[in-house]
This record gives sequence, C-alpha cells and structure tokens, in this order.
Amino acid sequence: MFMTTDPENFKAMLATQFNDFSIGRRYQILSPVIGDSIFTLDGEGWKHSRAMLRPQFVREQVGHVQALEPHLQLLAKHIRSYKGETVDLQQLFTKFTLDTATEFLFGQSVHTLYDERIGMKTPDDVPYAKDFTDGLFITQKYTSERGYAQQFYWLIDGKEFRTAIANVHKFARFYVDRALNFSQAELEKKSQESYTFLYELVQQTRDPKVLQDQLLAIMLAGRDTTSSLLSFIFYELSRNPGIWEKLKKEVYENFGSGTEKDIAKITFESLKKCNYVKWVINETLRMYPTVPVNLRVSNKDTSLPKGGGEDGKSPIFIPRGTTVGFRVYSTQRNKEYYGEDPDVFRPERWADIGKLGWAYLPFLGGPRTCIGQQFALTEAGYILVRIAQLFPNLKSKNSVHYPPKKTLNVIFNLFEGCLVEMGE
Ligand code: HEM
Repeated sequence: MFMTTDPENFKAMLATQFNDFSIGRRYQILSPVIGDSIFTLDGEGWKHSRAMLRPQFVREQVGHVQALEPHLQLLAKHIRSYKGETVDLQQLFTKFTLDTATEFLFGQSVHTLYDERIGMKTPDDVPYAKDFTDGLFITQKYTSERGYAQQFYWLIDGKEFRTAIANVHKFARFYVDRALNFSQAELEKKSQESYTFLYELVQQTRDPKVLQDQLLAIMLAGRDTTSSLLSFIFYELSRNPGIWEKLKKEVYENFGSGTEKDIAKITFESLKKCNYVKWVINETLRMYPTVPVNLRVSNKDTSLPKGGGEDGKSPIFIPRGTTVGFRVYSTQRNKEYYGEDPDVFRPERWADIGKLGWAYLPFLGGPRTCIGQQFALTEAGYILVRIAQLFPNLKSKNSVHYPPKKTLNVIFNLFEGCLVEMGE
C-alpha cells in the first residue's frame, strides 16, 4: 500500500489519471445496504448514476433552505430545554440531519427530534420510522468496520447487520412505492408545494430498486458529513469568543436578528455573499475534513508524479491492484500551503490565501467530486446564521484538551461531543 499527502498525486488520481484508478472494494463493502448506486459503482454504472442525479443538485434545488426552518425550531426547543446547562450539539445535529435528510429525500421526515424532553410525542403515524432509524445506525457501524477490514470485509456480517439492512430497505421501499403510485397530477402538485428528491427522480426512472439504492446512497453520503461539519464549527466557535463576535456581526448586518422577514432573506445567493460565514466553514473543513483519509486502487500498471527517487520528488511506479491511501487531513495542516500556524483556527487566513489548488480538498475534486457540496454549504450556512440569531450566547464546555479527541468511522466526529452552554 502507498500513502500520499502530495497535492500533485491527489490531482493525478482524482482528475488527470482518473481512469487509472477505481474506488476499490467499496462495492462489496457497501452494496448490501446501498446496492448499485453513485457511491458504489465505477465505470459506466457510476457515469450513468451521476448523470441521472446531477440535475437534482442545481442551484434551484439546493437553495430550498426554508424547508429547514421547522426542524431548526425543534432543535432550538431542545437547546432551550437545557436552560443554559451543558448541551451536546453533536447529538442534536445527528438527529437534525436525519430528520431533514429523510424529508428532503423521501418526502417524509422520521422526526427523531420529537421527544419527551421537549414535551412532544414521536409521531406514530410514520411507517417504519423507528426501525429505519435504528437500522441505519447499525448498518453504518457495520459498513465502516467493513471498510477498515478491506479484503476481509466479508468477516463483518451476521444476523444483526442483515436485520438492520432489511429494516432500512423496508422504510425506503415503502416511500418509493408510495411515490410510484402517485398520479402525474399528484406528483406535480407535490413538486409545487416543496422539493422532494424522490418525487423528481421518479420522473427519470420508475425502477424501484434504482430509486431505493440511489436515495440511500445520498443519505449515506450526505447526512453524517453535514452533522460532523456543524459539530466542528460550533466546537471551534464556542472556544473562540472573538471569532463568534465577528461572525454574529456579519449575520446581524446581513440578516437582522431573526424576525420572519429576516429569515426569508437567508438564501443560497445571500449566504454566498457572507465572507466571514464562508471563511468559518472553510476553516472548519480545513482543520477537520469530514473524510480525512480516503483511498483509490490502481486498475492498471501506472505511476504517480511524486514519491519516487531518493528525495521522493520523482514519479513513482504503481503496479496494478495497488491501494493508494491519501490523507487530505495532513495536507490541509501543512505549513507549506497554510503558513506558519496551520494548527490554529483562524478564519481570516482565507482573506488572502491565494490559489490552493489540490491542497484543499474537503469535497475532493475531479469527476467524482462531492455532488452535494453546494447543498451542504448552503445548509451549514443557514443553520449557522439561524443559531447565531437565536442563541447569541455561546460557551464551550468541552474539556480544555486541545486539539480535541476525535473518532473516525470513515468520517470524523468529536469524541466528547460538542459540549456547549447556550443562551438567548
Ligand atoms: C460537509 C458535508 C460534506 C462533505 C465534507 C462531503 C464530502 C464528500 C467527499 C470527500 C466525497 C468523495 C468520496 C469519494 O469519492 O471517495 C463525496 C462524495 C459524494 N457526496 Fe458528499 N460531502 C458532504 C455532503 C454531501 C451532501 C449534503 C450530499 C447530498 C445531499 C452529498 C452527496 C455525495 C454523493 C452522492 C457523493 C458521491 C459522488 C460520486 O461518487 O460521484 N455529500 N462527498
């Protein structure tokens, strides 16, 4: 196995020599859950999936931030219920992104934020919601272990995994079948009311297995990643009062304090104009790239531009079937690209950082770059703005230990959670 942190090698694997590399065993590892989908396929199958899903990620669709507001209100209710005591935002963001992702993808939220704590009963009229939620957590635990086991992925299997998969599929299939049974007029009416991925995708394919696989793949790729980003954002903001003040100033100048009229001002376009919000998100993804380590496997004898020769600056031979791991985490903390203080959270560095090219890759790059990048950045921006409006007082309650302990199950999370005290 080779490991690399060199941007030139990233560029080669992900773009200029894209066809020399595959995603390795991802199909075997993940296909029991997400089948034949954009995330598991290589070659023509992947191309076809990407072309089918691409139109759903254009600006009009990813800009539907207002759909987040009812869920954000529930999140705020939870935060208030702690009455200034310590709250773990990471746990709340995990539920929040599950609720918003199920609504956006399937047209039905599983409402995990509804609970006794905020005096609301979990709705019992959402078919298979509980089985799905529990099943999803179990399948994710298994699939990340299968990922680490690589060629021994098949050892990590069993009844618990298979039952969880069946429960996840039961939920997905129920909503897919429901959508397939809507008349064209019903679908059009629903489309006008709000944006649901599934209702748009059935206009392109009516194959229930394809719909199920692609929706679950997007769920897997998009949910935990967004909640991880949000958790690290608030971890750093709560430790850095000066940065939090600057951010709030920009938010209030652009979006006021959060009246109904103010909320309507928060859009894809207006968020893009908020430099400091952007820098905070960029800086978080630099220091805590959600997918810090990744891999590709060569599908023929080939080479990479850096790593060979005495000084490692010459090209290196990569035989067919070799795993090449790449760590954007290390590159994004390298002084060569980020100056003398790469381990300091300093959003201002983005003011004059110049061209980074392949040294900044939280969403990767090339043909397989994250398809949900704009979607994720818009969602994170919206939540950041709304929380700044609703809870101007923010204080870290994490242990003083820095850098924070992290867990890595394919994606990064905070080991202790994101512990904060918040007030209005
Ligand atoms: C902070 C949030 C996110 C981060 C950091 C992130 C990062 C990534 C990365 C690194 C990849 C490349 C994986 C690889 O090929 O090895 C990827 C792919 C992908 N992402 Fe994201 N992602 C995020 C949010 C989202 C969201 C919100 C969605 C959808 C709603 C999404 C959908 C996808 C899909 C479908 C792929 C596979 C693309 C392909 O293989 O062609 N992601 N993402």
